[in-house]
Amino acid sequence: MSFPAIDEATWTRLHHLACEAAEMAYAPYSRFRVGAAALVDDGRYVSGCNVENAGYGVTLCAECGLVSDLIRNGGGRLVAFACVDEQGNACSPCGRCRQLLYEHAAPGMLLAMPAGRMTIDQVLPGGFGPRDLATADPIEE
Ligand code: THU
Repeated sequence: MSFPAIDEATWTRLHHLACEAAEMAYAPYSRFRVGAAALVDDGRYVSGCNVENAGYGVTLCAECGLVSDLIRNGGGRLVAFACVDEQGNACSPCGRCRQLLYEHAAPGMLLAMPAGRMTIDQVLPGGFGPRDLATADPIEE
C-alpha cells in the first residue's frame, strides 16, 4: 500500500501543529517541551505533547499523546510525522516511541528527522509488530 506524495505545505502544517503542541507541554522536570504531529491516511491531523510526572519514569512522551489522539478520533494509519522541541527544531523520537509509531504506521510512513526525512523502516529496521505475534499459540483459558 502507498499514499500520495506529501507536499511541502503538508510538512509546514505538521511543523506548525507540532510547535503548537509543544507550547502545551507539561515538562516541569526536564524543561524540555516536545510537540508531535502526524497526518493520518484519511487526511486528519493528530498531535500530542509530552506530559511529565514526579515519578520521572511515568512521563508520557509527545508521541504517546499523539497515538492517543489517533485512536480516540477513529484510528487509521500515520503517513507523515514531525516532532519538535520548544525552539521548533526537529526532535528525534526515542526508541520506545519509534516502536509506538511502528504499530500505527502506514507502510513507508515518513518522519521529519533532524537529519532529514526518513521512513519508519529506516528509523526502526526490523521492527516488531502485530504480524510477529501471528504465530503465537492462542492464550489458554
Ligand atoms: N520526549 C518526548 O516527548 N518524545 C521523545 O521521543 C523524546 C523525549 C520527552 C520526554 C521528556 O518529557 C523530555 O522529552 C526529556 O526527555
